Amino acid sequence: MENNSRSSFTGKIGFVLAAAGSAVGLGNIWRFPYLAAKYGGGIFLLVYLILALTFGFALMTAEIALGRKTKLSAIGAFRSLNKKFSIVGYLASVVPMIILPYYCVIGGWVTKYLCAFVSGSASLAAGDSYFGNFISQPVEPVIWFVIYLAVTAIVVLLGVEKGVEKVSKIMMPILIVLSIVIAGYSLCMPGAMDGLVYYLKPDFSKFSVTTVLAAMGQLFYSMSLSMGIMITYGSYMKKEVSLESSVKQIELFDTGIAFIAGLMIIPAVFAFSGGTPEALGKGPGLMFETLPKVFETMAGGTYIGIAFFVLVLFAALTSSISLMETVVSIIVDKFKIRRSLSCVLVFLISVLLGVPSALGYGTWGSIKLLGMSFLDFFDFTSNSVLMPIVAFLTCIFIGYILKPKAIIEEVESSGKFKQKKLFEVVIKYVAPVCILLILISSILEALGYFKI
Ligand code: PHE
Repeated sequence: MENNSRSSFTGKIGFVLAAAGSAVGLGNIWRFPYLAAKYGGGIFLLVYLILALTFGFALMTAEIALGRKTKLSAIGAFRSLNKKFSIVGYLASVVPMIILPYYCVIGGWVTKYLCAFVSGSASLAAGDSYFGNFISQPVEPVIWFVIYLAVTAIVVLLGVEKGVEKVSKIMMPILIVLSIVIAGYSLCMPGAMDGLVYYLKPDFSKFSVTTVLAAMGQLFYSMSLSMGIMITYGSYMKKEVSLESSVKQIELFDTGIAFIAGLMIIPAVFAFSGGTPEALGKGPGLMFETLPKVFETMAGGTYIGIAFFVLVLFAALTSSISLMETVVSIIVDKFKIRRSLSCVLVFLISVLLGVPSALGYGTWGSIKLLGMSFLDFFDFTSNSVLMPIVAFLTCIFIGYILKPKAIIEEVESSGKFKQKKLFEVVIKYVAPVCILLILISSILEALGYFKI
């Protein structure tokens, strides 16, 4: 497919775009803004950026290098290097299975909003109670969830991921441009400047361990780390492609899009509801409640809304496809069954696990796990518990068992490793200590919550 003399160039762009396709998704556009709004704006942004440049950089480098070195996906990669650590591969594999179902619930919400805009209900969707009404319906959220999940499953079943990725490569730049336009518009609304200040200026009095935990979980989620996915991507990476600069580009893409999404949504929250703690703490519904109001006030807002939701849908699909693909191949490898059967199984399990999340804000709203709705609970389990554990064990494994040297050599096999000192210090000392402290304090907090 590739011309040999250009393969390293094509190889790098191809690799960065494929990994960015998995990384950029609802995590950036839906999840990042609502967390930033909830956890103090500027302080969350600052903590996130620091983590991205240190933890994110070190872990992504480590995972991709592990994959490229072993040419295996998570379970095999850990097992081949040290039998005792194959547990890390297994743990990492559980994460996508937890995320996939509720990811598709949110994908269903996006699909619902797209259809609402297409069918001319844009101004209804901008109404205050529209979102609340929708997610409290007994059947509707389940239907949209299953539709979205089925589309993901069909793509994986038919093996047409490449087609979707191609379309998405065209869509991603358009999404970036459109988001910048919407953000620019949001910022011009009366009251939006207070939102901009809230988003950009760190207020250190709002700093807490929870802020760091939330930012760390978001980092893993958004960059598809600690779940074996980047190991798999790394296993397909060519030896001659520069690993360090690829990691930097993926990070730049991913963080850039999240940052712009925040600009689009947070100032608008201030413009429409004065940035009250209640409005800022909305959680998973924030994007769905805010953006239709922005579109409503724009000329041609219905069309902009349609374009926006189509683009987000593609960004989400490339991510859910990569999630499902991972789960399907783990099951194929483990149980030696046919790929199509594995697909059907994953689809059915996802329906079972996703229905509670789809209904958790309405019909089953009274059922709480550790004080959380189903969706928040799954989100918490994967992002704030399992992923930090996997990240911690990965750091221990690389820092003390495999030794950073092995990763550094792998990176250097394709060029200079400029930040190898930073990599080594973060992987060996900073990351494991911080992750452990944050993990323990968050679990204690969740248990405290439980006792109330
Ligand atoms: N990183 C994706 C996002 O930001 C989510 C995802 C996680 C995708 C894990 C694949 C694997 O939306």
